[in-house]
Amino acid sequence: MKIIHTIAELRAWRATVDQVAFVPTMGNLHQGHMALVRAALAETPHVVVSLFVNRLQFGQGEDFDRYPRTLASDAALIEEIAPNAIVFAPDEKELYPHVVQHYKVDPPAIQDELCGAFRPGHFQGVATVVTKLFNIVQPTVACFGKKDYQQLFVIQSMVEELNMPLRIIPVDTGRAESGLALSSRNGYLSPEERVEAARIYFHLTRMRDAIVAGERDYEKLANETIADLTARGWSQIDYVEARNAHTLKPATHTDHHIVWLIAARLGKTRLIDNLEIDL
Ligand code: PAF
Repeated sequence: MKIIHTIAELRAWRATVDQVAFVPTMGNLHQGHMALVRAALAETPHVVVSLFVNRLQFGQGEDFDRYPRTLASDAALIEEIAPNAIVFAPDEKELYPHVVQHYKVDPPAIQDELCGAFRPGHFQGVATVVTKLFNIVQPTVACFGKKDYQQLFVIQSMVEELNMPLRIIPVDTGRAESGLALSSRNGYLSPEERVEAARIYFHLTRMRDAIVAGERDYEKLANETIADLTARGWSQIDYVEARNAHTLKPATHTDHHIVWLIAARLGKTRLIDNLEIDL
């Protein structure tokens, strides 16, 4: 495994290989990220994992400053399963040399819905840094987790509409035994909150089972989830929504592929998760 900090060195390495599978991350890696690395390795031995906490996708008052920077332990985890991987860990000056990024990639209206309604500018920040990283790494494939379902949707449509020459590989969400989706932000949870956090998955499966059994009153199911989480002391429920899994438009009664999406705050920690249903 080799750690590269500069764009020039990454480009020099890139010129020596044909195919590249890319895993963009913000570091603080866990087994969910390792599933992305495994998916990349299944494509080609030439894997690049980027570690970069992207200021542009954090809003005011969000956790940019306290987001854990854990290069040494991240590199050790990658080394275990991908000893030939390249770890690309640029600093802010390397990726944003002009301090202000004047050119931004602006996703369509979906950027203002779901998470975007609570995190203005977030998906513009994601689309911009991912475009920069794609331009630097020039991957043939890139792996993104389904846990960030809306992010995956934005990246997939961006790649398609801007004719970016790579394939996106969606990777299933890794879960703890309790069902809690693996996430770097789980590290902010107290032991008690970690147990409670699995309630999101409980409701996702409850709402899935209800739909599979024929229920089509999505609003009623969502309201039951909101009422329960609120009663259990969750500090804020951002949204509980059923959407068409392909278009991310609000689910209709005739949709066959639906995704339930939840974002809610437990204490100070904002958690998101989702579950697809193929009817
Ligand atoms: O999913 C993430 O970790 C980030 O949003 C990404 C894709 C690495 C962009 O900063």
